[in-house]
Amino acid sequence: MSDDAILILGDEQYRFPVREGTEGERAIDIQDLRARTGYVTLDPGYANTGSCRSAITFIDGEQGILRYRGIPIEQFEREPNFVEAAWLLIFGHLPNPEEYKTFSENLTACANLDESMKHHFEGFPRSAPPMAILSAMINALSCFHPEYFELEDKDHFRCAAAGLISKIRTIAAYAYRHSIGQPYIYPNPALRYVPNFLHMMFSQPYAEHECDPIVRDAINLVLLLHADHEQNCSTSTVRMVGSSQANLFASCAAGVCALWGPLHGGANVAVLQMLEQIHQGRISPEEYVRLAKDRDSKVRLMGFGHRVYKNFDPRARMLGKVAERLLPTLGVRDPLLDIARRLEEIALEDPYFVDRQLYPNVDFYSGIIMRAVGIPTNMFTVMFAIGRLPGWIAHWWEQSQTQGSKIARPRQLYVGPGFTDHVPKDERM
Ligand code: SDX
Repeated sequence: MSDDAILILGDEQYRFPVREGTEGERAIDIQDLRARTGYVTLDPGYANTGSCRSAITFIDGEQGILRYRGIPIEQFEREPNFVEAAWLLIFGHLPNPEEYKTFSENLTACANLDESMKHHFEGFPRSAPPMAILSAMINALSCFHPEYFELEDKDHFRCAAAGLISKIRTIAAYAYRHSIGQPYIYPNPALRYVPNFLHMMFSQPYAEHECDPIVRDAINLVLLLHADHEQNCSTSTVRMVGSSQANLFASCAAGVCALWGPLHGGANVAVLQMLEQIHQGRISPEEYVRLAKDRDSKVRLMGFGHRVYKNFDPRARMLGKVAERLLPTLGVRDPLLDIARRLEEIALEDPYFVDRQLYPNVDFYSGIIMRAVGIPTNMFTVMFAIGRLPGWIAHWWEQSQTQGSKIARPRQLYVGPGFTDHVPKDERM
């Protein structure tokens, strides 16, 4: 029995090959559908459309499985190391000691920004959204590194990747320092990735921020759990932009913009706003859930639901545990965590959410962790972007190395007016 898919259109039958992935997922290959049938498919939101073959991340939404290059994310929990996970996603294997040492040294060496980039920050109002600054400054960064416009080989790409992964911290920290009118704090080459970022965020010229190892591990895990998620909106955006052979920086700057949306990475800010609203007593958890179930209310239970996960988002489980461990260790008592747990409890017993397979996603607990270490709410999605950057870079590079890779150009179903003549201005009503 052939594995082909058969499409019957009128009196004609068309066979299309079925492709199978590593984990047995199957796809109907319709690359020549229009050429053979004159038809295109229609799939708003691409919920049923595979855009590419990828070897980077595997998700099983029904089972709640997430693996980076085959490694279940739960196995990173014991010794979370974001830099190691970044290498794994980008280069396809866990770094050996020499690779890790060289990559880490690269990150340290290129943490600084060109001094004249600081004037760009001055041009933004203090109230500027950090995601707007981040996207703008990633593009601006490319102007100071024209050597990264054309990445001829893997070594050149490795330098560009290290430069971007390192400097995104500095850009993020400088955006924060500008927003609070504080001096920029230069990166400290003696510090590792996360402690150096927190140093640039929270040190003062006269007082060095001390990074608690508990916080270091928690933020490493937060960034690691955000590092990739296959063809999500922002990663697909990076691939779309990169498919025109736009450079790595322009592609990742576009990814920042896509991530900003409240239905995507911006949800971690929306979750905190939702929890604050309930905490201030303006609405009860029960009332909020009722509103979220009412389609006319336009209210959603932020941090809940997912296009792919129809089971618990494994990242939400892990982040929920981090929050439960971290806050008491830091002596932080955050009522928002209790409210989040209450919302989860109500929703998971409510047929509306159960029937629609709506569970907490990565954004539901992440903000509570970041808030506990002093990261302000308006920087939460920036933290998501810092975490997701290695995934964006990995997908951009995978696509650029794929033989026969084409510019992304979807089709449409035109539903506008038929042939219409132009009407001269003096004849218009
Ligand atoms: C991320 O794609 C990724 O991998 C993303 C991400 C990553 O790592 O890159 O995982 C990160 O973006 C996580 C999602 C963050 N967003 C939110 O938390 C916002 C709240 N969630 C929703 O807006 C929604 O669940 C989405 C956007 C996440 C998914 O939307 P879908 O797949 O398009 O589902 P849908 O909007 O068609 O909803 C199906 C039904 C609808 O009801 P009915 O039409 O059947 O009556 O479920 C309802 C929706 O109204 N629904 C919700 C809901 N999410 C879906 N109802 C209330 N609250 C919600 N949160």
